[in-house]
Amino acid sequence: MPTSRPIASVRAAAEEQLPPVVWDYVETGAGAEISLEEAENAWQHWRLRPRVLRDVRAVSTRTTLLGQELASPVIAAPTAFHRVYHPEGELASVAGAGAAGSLYCLSTRSTTSIEDVGAAATEPWWMQVYVTVARDITEAMVLRAVEAGACALVLTGDTPYLSWRTRSARALPLDDEAAMVNAARHLDGRDLRCLEEDAGLTVETIDWLADLSGLPVLVKGVLRGDDARECLDAGAAGIIVSTHGGRQLDRVVPTAQALPEVVDAVAGEAPVVVDGGIRSGYDVLTALALGADAVMVGRPVIYGLATAGADGVRDVLAGLTDHVNHLLGLAGVTSPAELDRSFVTPRSG
Ligand SMILES: Cc1cc2nc3c(=O)[nH]c(=O)nc-3n(C[C@H](O)[C@H](O)[C@H](O)COP(=O)(O)O)c2cc1C
Repeated sequence: MPTSRPIASVRAAAEEQLPPVVWDYVETGAGAEISLEEAENAWQHWRLRPRVLRDVRAVSTRTTLLGQELASPVIAAPTAFHRVYHPEGELASVAGAGAAGSLYCLSTRSTTSIEDVGAAATEPWWMQVYVTVARDITEAMVLRAVEAGACALVLTGDTPYLSWRTRSARALPLDDEAAMVNAARHLDGRDLRCLEEDAGLTVETIDWLADLSGLPVLVKGVLRGDDARECLDAGAAGIIVSTHGGRQLDRVVPTAQALPEVVDAVAGEAPVVVDGGIRSGYDVLTALALGADAVMVGRPVIYGLATAGADGVRDVLAGLTDHVNHLLGLAGVTSPAELDRSFVTPRSG
């Protein structure tokens, strides 16, 4: 029986710990925050259909993703600026994820260098990419990620530019050195505007990144089956169903609702990962039964980091994984691979 703290309690501790301006930055959504509010509840629109009288003495959360064996299907989502939450920043996050057996995805907007994160990683890690207006800067950072040992790239497709974020108009307490730790060396005296996201990206960007890096490229932010297909046809190695934590376009379909359509369109050709409002093993189990190969969690990792550094990140991720392990057995299966759509049904009413 898992004994870890519920994420709501880690969240409450993080709120006490962080300055209000930082807390608002973490918690905010876009627009009227409708997508932010709906994300968690949407998982509860599904009900489970467990099997009985199955031998579940040997349950395991082990899973395979892009040919790599992982101890857990729970991944740390890319989130920016970890040094505003804890002095050890992304070094604590990658160590905590590794200690929990979780894959770590580093944000383009990290406050620790790509090289330092690569050197600290003990489990596979991915690099999230925002493509900058000055392509040479993204090119250089991607090549550094390859050199540092990243196993895949995550191209964020839902951010042609940043959305209006309802609660985070004020500047974060972050010095320029930390904020620019990866990009500064490539600026060569150019204006900071060359670091803005390139709003001209198309599906051709996928192949460009794959050719440049030799790594599999997953596209993050997909909410439609037809988009998933176009991305795969353009060379994507995986799809991440995401609303960016409700921080980009508001009033979008919740990921718990979009996931089946995307899984059907992908038809087993590539892995599908989902994030948004995943806060318990029940949410993970539901996502896996709907056809996701893995899930990512964003804010909960930040809560763990803010409250207890690497140990806090480890406890959040390991707690979720333990909970999934426990629920798999109660649902009558011994591994994530045994779950399928027959294990879920929409809640009536
Ligand atoms: C504070 C914060 C910063 C984020 N930064 C990034 C980022 O740099 N790149 C990115 O692709 N997504 C970013 N995201 C989105 C997350 O990767 C993820 O999609 C989202 O947090 C999942 O929802 P959850 O927080 O409910 O788990 C960020 C989210 C938050 C909350």
